[in-house]
Amino acid sequence: MSNKNKTKIISSESNNSFSEKIKQNLDTKVIGQEIFYFKTIPSTNDYARFLINKGVEDGAIVLADVQISGRGRKSRVWSSPEGGLWFSIILYPSFSPKYAMLLTMAASISVVKAVREITYLKPVIKWPNDILIDGKKVCGVLTELETKEDKIGYSIIGIGINVNNKLNKELHGQATTLKEKYGSKISKGDLFSCILEQFDSNYIRLMDNDFSYIREKWLSMSKIAGREVIIRDDDKTIQGVVSGVDDNGQLILKSEDGIKYISTGDLEYI
Ligand code: BTN
Repeated sequence: MSNKNKTKIISSESNNSFSEKIKQNLDTKVIGQEIFYFKTIPSTNDYARFLINKGVEDGAIVLADVQISGRGRKSRVWSSPEGGLWFSIILYPSFSPKYAMLLTMAASISVVKAVREITYLKPVIKWPNDILIDGKKVCGVLTELETKEDKIGYSIIGIGINVNNKLNKELHGQATTLKEKYGSKISKGDLFSCILEQFDSNYIRLMDNDFSYIREKWLSMSKIAGREVIIRDDDKTIQGVVSGVDDNGQLILKSEDGIKYISTGDLEYI
C-alpha cells in the first residue's frame, strides 16, 4: 500500500512550506512515513541514533536545513550550511551485515537517478559512495551500522547533497553544487521526494533479496569497470584494474598480487 498523504512530519517549525510540500507529494511504501525535521541540528545521523534508541520505525527520516557538526567518512568534517540537503534514513534491514554495502549502493543509485530526473545533469558514482559531476563531489553517503550476531540491528544512511548552498573556499577545487552545475536554483523538496521514492523501491528490492539489480545499476552509474585505480586505506595502498563488484558489494580488483576484494578506502583513478 502506498504511503501517499500519510507521512507524519515531526517539526519544531509550524507552517513550514518545505515539509508541507513533501507531505503532500511523497509516494512511498516504507521510507519516510515519519520525517523529523529541524532547522538546525548537530548531525542528522546522531539524532537518528537517538530515535532508534526510542524505538522509531523502519524508514523514518531525520532532515535538517543546517548541521553544525555534520560528519563525513573517516570522521571528517562535513560542511552543511543552509541550501543543502542533509538527511538520514533509519533502517532495520533483515539481512546479514555482509550485504550492508548494498544499502549504501542503493542510496547512491537513488540519488543519481533522482538528480537525472530533476535536472539534465549526469552524475557519476565514485567508489565507495561519492557522487560527482564533472569530477567534483556533489554528494556523500555515510552509512553507520549496528550488528547483532549475524544480523543488522540498525542502519543509518546519512546523505549529504550540495544543492543550492555556498561552498567553503577550501572545497572549491574538489566539490560543486547542483545549482552551480544546473545554472539555477533547484527545488530541494522535489529532489528530496524523488530520492525517497527511488530509495523506497530499491530498499524493497533488497528486502526481496534482489541484490543483482542494485549491483548492476551501481556498476553502470559508476563507469568503474575496466578502470585502473589506486586505493589507499590508512597506510595500505593497492593498485589494480577494477573488474566489478561481488555479491556483497565489495570492489573486485585485479592487482599484481592477484584478485583482491576491497570494502574500504579512498580511490584515485590513474
Ligand atoms: C562523506 O562523503 O564523507 C559522507 C558525507 C555524509 C554527510 C551526511 S549529511 C547527513 C548525515 N549527517 C551527517 O552528520 N553526515 C551525513
